Amino acid sequence: MLNVIRDNLPRSATRTIVDLGCGTGVSLVVARELGFDIVGVDPCPSMRRIARARGMQVISSRAFANRHQEYAAAIASYLLHLLASLDVVRSAWEHLSPDGIFMGNCHKGVNHAEVSALLGGLGGTSLRHSVSSDCVSHGPYVAFAKRN
Ligand SMILES: C[S@@+](CC[C@H](N)C(=O)[O-])C[C@H]1O[C@@H](n2cnc3c(N)ncnc32)[C@H](O)[C@@H]1O
Repeated sequence: MLNVIRDNLPRSATRTIVDLGCGTGVSLVVARELGFDIVGVDPCPSMRRIARARGMQVISSRAFANRHQEYAAAIASYLLHLLASLDVVRSAWEHLSPDGIFMGNCHKGVNHAEVSALLGGLGGTSLRHSVSSDCVSHGPYVAFAKRN
């Protein structure tokens, strides 16, 4: 996921990414390797504790929604299939910079059509051609850029 974001972000873009549903913070190592700063968001206090212990900066879902920070990209790894409401996806899109990218996988395809329709309806451009076919074991991806 982070490779696709790196390859599609303009060079001038800020380097801070938000990891929605960061869980235990497993994205941190790769994010650092690729030169990104990453902020994790998770509603679960025990997940936040573990991710912080790993060295990730983490905030609660409520703090994320109320914070007016702009991010270069948002990732959602093994989160989208859990969602009964797509409010967190909409909120993440609103937090993206004008060059921003949203990317997530939909385990077993759950919510793929719904998230794609939401982001397309908000004016996003699909980056599906950038997502290599070796990712399919994680379920289909949604990858949308704000700018054409
Ligand atoms: C299956 S884990 C995935 C963790 C991590 N992203 C990964 O790939 O290992 C899903 C995480 O999403 C969090 N979560 C559940 N509902 C959420 C929501 N509405 N917004 C943000 N995170 C949520 C859970 O607390 C959990 O940590």
